[in-house]
This record gives sequence, structure tokens and C-alpha cells, in this order.
Amino acid sequence: MNGTIKTIMERRSCRSFQDRQIEEALLTQILDAGLQAATAMNHQSWYLTVMQDRKLLENISSGVADVMRKTQVPSLVERAADPGFSSFHHAPTVVFLAGDGSIYSIADCANAAQNMCVAATALGLGSCYLASFVQAFKSPEGKKLRDSFVLPSGYEPLFAVALGYAKESTSQPKPRERKISYIR
Ligand SMILES: Cc1cc2nc3c(=O)[nH]c(=O)nc-3n(C[C@H](O)[C@H](O)[C@H](O)COP(=O)(O)O)c2cc1C
Repeated sequence: MNGTIKTIMERRSCRSFQDRQIEEALLTQILDAGLQAATAMNHQSWYLTVMQDRKLLENISSGVADVMRKTQVPSLVERAADPGFSSFHHAPTVVFLAGDGSIYSIADCANAAQNMCVAATALGLGSCYLASFVQAFKSPEGKKLRDSFVLPSGYEPLFAVALGYAKESTSQPKPRERKISYIR
């Protein structure tokens, strides 16, 4: 199989990371791969924030847990109550992608996030595409957490990619439905 396609097929969401930090050279390659993603009209409507401040990541995660508790949805309340809960899966590095609110910025940021996940796989790292953390910024208390990002005006965090060395070997792929039709 072609090497690039093999890497795409092998990428899986990693939700259990070792404590050790990733090397700067690997991080740079992953960021560069993100920045090579296709963007509408080459608008590059993203802003990336590399967060390795564990305390801040924990605080954002606590904000997510608070929101989950308030939903009163039993499954979410139960997950939030887990002392090991982390919306970032305790990854040592999390890259946040903020969009500028322009029409295709969600797609631009999503493309960059996926590129980073594939690059991480190619480099032997675990990665997890994330979006649920955004909930933490919606409450009045969450505003302070949101303000810990230094973003250009008009940008809002949309996605994140958790990065690190996987603790366990990657899981089997979930079955994919072939929702494809051919018109020939
Ligand atoms: C837009 C988006 C948001 C996601 N948000 C989360 C998340 O907040 N937490 C998480 O653990 N996984 C999240 N995922 C990962 C998916 O759950 C995962 O990709 C899916 O279950 C398929 O598994 P795989 O990535 O191992 O192939 C997200 C993926 C995408 C594309």
C-alpha cells in the first residue's frame, strides 16, 4: 500500500497518553503539516495555539466538566464525576485551532486539524481530534478561560488536536459505512 494512504488508514483517536512531552522537532513538523492544509481562497482563516501548560489545560477541562454536570444528562454527569476525566485525555500538548468566523473558516481549521492528526501518526505519535472543550467557554465563568488565549480579534477556538506518545497500542478502526454512490 502507498505509504501516505497507509498512514491515513492507521490514524486512530488516541485517548491515553504517556506523561513525557513530545520533541520540539516533531511538534514543528506537525504544525507545518497543519499549515499545508487546503483553505478556501487560500484565506488561511486559522490561528493556532500550542498549549503545554498542564494547569491551564486542567482548568479548561474542569470548565467542560462543570458544563457537563449542568446538562443533567446522566451519561455526561457520570463522565464529569470521574476523577480521571480530562477533555484533553491528559495529553502533554494540545494544539487549538481558532477560526476567524469567515464562511469557510470551520472547513479550513478542520482540514488543518486532520492534517496534524495524520502527521502525528506518520511520526509515531498519538493524536485525538477534539471539539467538546469549546463548551467550557460558553458559561460566564468560562469567559476567563477563553481569555487565556491570545487570539487576534474576531477569532474563536473551534477544534483542538491532542498530541503525545500513546500509552496503549492504537485501537482497531471503527467500522466505516460505505456511504458512496457512483453516478457514471
Ligand atoms: C469535529 C470532531 C470533533 C471531535 N471531538 C472529540 C472530542 O471532543 N473528544 C474525543 O475524545 N474525540 C473527539 N473526536 C474524535 C472522534 O470521536 C473520532 O474521530 C471517531 O470516533 C472515529 O474514531 P477514529 O478517529 O479512531 O477513527 C472528534 C472528531 C471530530 C472530527
